[in-house]
Amino acid sequence: MATIIPVASFDCVVFGATGDLTTRKLLPALYYRYKDGQIPGTSRIIGASRSEMSVEAFRERARDALKRFVPARDLDEDRLAAFLDHLDYVAVDGAGDDGWEDLAAKLAERPDQVRPYYLATSPDLYGSICRNLSAHGLIGEKSRVVLEKPIGKDLKSARAINDAVGEVFPEEQIFRIDHYLGKETVQNLLALRFANTIFERLWTADVIDHVQITVGETVGVEGRAGYYDTSGALRDMVQNHLLQLLCLMAMESPLTLDANSVRDEKLKVLRALKPITPHDVQAVTVRGQYAAGAVDGKPVQGYRADLGGETESRTETFVALKLEVQSWRWAGVPFYIRTGKRLPQKLSEIVVQFRASPFSIFPAESFGREPNRLVIRLQPEEGIKLEVMTKDPGPGGMRLRPTNLDISFEETFKQRYPDAYERLLMDVVRGNATLFMRRDEVEVAWAWADSLLKAWADRPEPPRAYPAGSWGPTAAIALIERDGRTWHEEMH
Ligand code: BG6
Repeated sequence: MATIIPVASFDCVVFGATGDLTTRKLLPALYYRYKDGQIPGTSRIIGASRSEMSVEAFRERARDALKRFVPARDLDEDRLAAFLDHLDYVAVDGAGDDGWEDLAAKLAERPDQVRPYYLATSPDLYGSICRNLSAHGLIGEKSRVVLEKPIGKDLKSARAINDAVGEVFPEEQIFRIDHYLGKETVQNLLALRFANTIFERLWTADVIDHVQITVGETVGVEGRAGYYDTSGALRDMVQNHLLQLLCLMAMESPLTLDANSVRDEKLKVLRALKPITPHDVQAVTVRGQYAAGAVDGKPVQGYRADLGGETESRTETFVALKLEVQSWRWAGVPFYIRTGKRLPQKLSEIVVQFRASPFSIFPAESFGREPNRLVIRLQPEEGIKLEVMTKDPGPGGMRLRPTNLDISFEETFKQRYPDAYERLLMDVVRGNATLFMRRDEVEVAWAWADSLLKAWADRPEPPRAYPAGSWGPTAAIALIERDGRTWHEEMH
């Protein structure tokens, strides 16, 4: 068990304190950090939202949330009660004038605390909350602001948000969350690449044939149809999570692990991404929308029915893309990425497929010339596998077959994997922005996404329907098979 070093004492103000993110993710994450002794006893978590509510009522809500979202084995009644004692509440109108004096008075009780302001609200409120914080003198050297995604829905709106927040907070105090960066296995990509000579030497176009990144989900749009229908998979998943994964796979070694060195290298990858133009949109992209089908053996309805019977929506719930990173290291190595809702499995994985051996000394009947593959499982069943060719045991001659060098993180480390938000919240308090997105990264990623969205908007055809519970439209299979390659799950 790793040693836990307590962070500095803080007052974390959570705007959007009654919302879904606070209930599902932030409160459980803070509870775990408290339970493990990382949060000093003088810290407070101050809920802020428009609803008038007593502190006791807020604590009761939090207790219910923790009972729902933390497994019973991790909920110790005494620790839970002690944790709830650190919760406070103020009714504040993010868009208006009410409640700010009360918040200021509460924060003035402990002027020396580190002060994260977590904006778990609609992005429309980011600007006015920041202006109010500044107008009430609540921003100092120890303040930080945390922005949840989506940061805009295109480059223009992202710039407007960044400008509004940037007017009152310097960039070093702005923490833009991409929760994928907080996942243990995603951070492990840095360890895998830059703490092991064997892989880094092979990380080039001479040795790698192509890379696949898959982030599949079994869920549909759940209670978020209103947001999702204005977003779609490209904005919701690709512009942020999948591009961040691609950056970590493709970037050069940063000079150090400090925030700017890492983000400088990621930015270069984003800049090197070849824009998808109207000319090649048909050849390198596939959009899909789930229709009725079955997931985990249960029938589920289609996306349009999930929207309440709206029949015209052209929002994509699945995307597959063939991307190019235009650099010396990656010239000619495609990155195939795909993500979607209502796929057969919740699965995030990165597959690096190496080139096939150039020549075989083995008799033709002994094996197919299977290339080596490195499979990095981000979730679930986190681990790393290297597929290598081995001799089939026995006296029957030289027959070969692929076998795995296989590390399961669960078996190796035998400990709970903390949720991404646990790490990210503590990094905010520590002031470490390495795992957060810098303004220029977000904007370059939007500029790239905008050109693809524009190319799609000009196409007459809607996204292709795929049955819920399948790996997307068959065109996504054709996208990679046209190049003589196969998606990883089809290989087995
Ligand atoms: C969020 C998206 O950012 O990531 C959701 O808005 C998606 O639509 C979620 O379901 C997936 O996150 P995870 O951690 O479950 O893979």
